[in-house]
Amino acid sequence: MNILGIGGYSHDSAAALVCDGELVAGVAEERLSRVKHQGGVPRLAIQYCLDTAGLTIDDIDHVGCYMRPIARAARRTAYRLTQLPRNPYYAAAYTGYELIHNAQYMRGMRSILGKNARLHYMEHHPAHAASAFLVSPFEEAALLSIDYIGEFTSTWAGVGRGTSITPLKSINYPHSLGVFYSAMTDYLGFLRASDEYKVMGLASYGEPEYYDEFKKIIRAKGDAWYAMDLSWMQYHYLPGSRHGYFSKKFIDRFGPPRKKSEPVEARHRNLAASAQLILEETVLRMVRHVHREAGSNNLCLAGGVALNCAMNGRLLREPASHEIYVQPASGDDGIAIGAAYQLHHQMTGSKRSFVMRDARIGPEYSNDDIRTFLDRAKIPYEIPHVLEDRAAQLIAEGNIVGWYQGRMEFGPRALGSRSILADPTRPEMKDLINKHVKHREEFRPFAPSCLAERASEFFEGCTDSPFMLFVYPVKKDKQELLPAITHVDGTARVQTVSDETHPRYYRLIQAFEKLRGVPVVLNTSFNVMGEPIVNTPEDAVRCFYSTGLDALAIGDYIVIKR
Ligand SMILES: [Fe+2]
Repeated sequence: MNILGIGGYSHDSAAALVCDGELVAGVAEERLSRVKHQGGVPRLAIQYCLDTAGLTIDDIDHVGCYMRPIARAARRTAYRLTQLPRNPYYAAAYTGYELIHNAQYMRGMRSILGKNARLHYMEHHPAHAASAFLVSPFEEAALLSIDYIGEFTSTWAGVGRGTSITPLKSINYPHSLGVFYSAMTDYLGFLRASDEYKVMGLASYGEPEYYDEFKKIIRAKGDAWYAMDLSWMQYHYLPGSRHGYFSKKFIDRFGPPRKKSEPVEARHRNLAASAQLILEETVLRMVRHVHREAGSNNLCLAGGVALNCAMNGRLLREPASHEIYVQPASGDDGIAIGAAYQLHHQMTGSKRSFVMRDARIGPEYSNDDIRTFLDRAKIPYEIPHVLEDRAAQLIAEGNIVGWYQGRMEFGPRALGSRSILADPTRPEMKDLINKHVKHREEFRPFAPSCLAERASEFFEGCTDSPFMLFVYPVKKDKQELLPAITHVDGTARVQTVSDETHPRYYRLIQAFEKLRGVPVVLNTSFNVMGEPIVNTPEDAVRCFYSTGLDALAIGDYIVIKR
């Protein structure tokens, strides 16, 4: 049975293919179209999945899509109509947009079907939850999915047992932790719906001075859930992207929003810290409750908010959850996997047999492909005896090295397939990478990749974090050793690397330890600001020559700038 999952459409669309219960391929459309957060029908991603499995679209039995369009249009427009007296123009315009958008979505999804496929529109949040639970190592777990908005739900809790997913509770728009965090992102002068991690990075520099007041905006409801005081907001009746998400009441109290060109001040840092704390406290309360209701200490987290690795790290350090699983693409792209596995179990009745421990399910180019490209472009290269040793030596010498190996990772994190690597022991490395390659804000940290069995020596409580989705405290006596990856608050967003899943990356880090004494490298995604992570050898070489990267380890070859 061949099942195609479609994740995202409004933005970040992606496809994944499950054949007889096996996850064969998955990729986000943006990596192929080269347009960041590309939405629409992921035609290139679908074609990639089919090509990888040697199938045509007529071989597909079921297609599962990430959202129910009728429910979405009905519930969202019904809500907008209640806001009609407040802002008739926006309510009418939004209703029109919603109807057209959903009609296009349905037409788009029908257009990809082959002769034999049945189309299924999955409910958004259970599909999010499935994207974690059904590929997690847990037989039973508490489930929590938190995003901006699904059809109309923004926060969803449930219980997973075996292959069944049972809802417990949902919170509807306009009450939404995802919208609140996005609103803060917009207010602090960053791009909403893609720069949330900047707020998270900035939060570590501030004090949660406004936390008590934020508790009035996101109010606890009983001992578990939350509701927002909408008098602080205006996104529910005005287009937030144009007029701002917060109401006059918020601006009067907390000051004007920061313009992009303005400096980041203490007030902004403290607002970010307060937003991060209210998010963590609110989610923690829900997590404790869902564990009680589910009768399980395992937790599967999903939805865009689950990419907040500072929050995830905090949850890990609280006693509420024994173990937490977050799938590497926990945003809408990852629903491609959730929808496909939901359908697989529904249609076959089979038990679970797959655990996603490796995110590398994307495109791969052979050494022949790479060599042909390098020769054609007249790019000189070395063929070192042991590539890992040579790359480790270049990193140890203080070079910034592009690392392009094997299949591309699914999800927003580079995990050693499409990465930029550097020496984490050099304090100047963060500034050098920012200046020559990434051009990021100075308050954003770089992350480490560490040999899995050595991680607990350097990072408190860290044993298994293959997807770089949890922040851990760097041990006090190791912080000075690893200045380029230790964030201002003494934490790091760790990726653990195991020999089984990442043999070449593992050997590289081993070789690096022989030279610099730590089994850790700095790992950031192989792209420049505003562009998707590189996909083809050509993307990699273009990024290499248009930035201050010093060397490129691509397949079995090393390219060095002279
Ligand atoms: Fe979502």
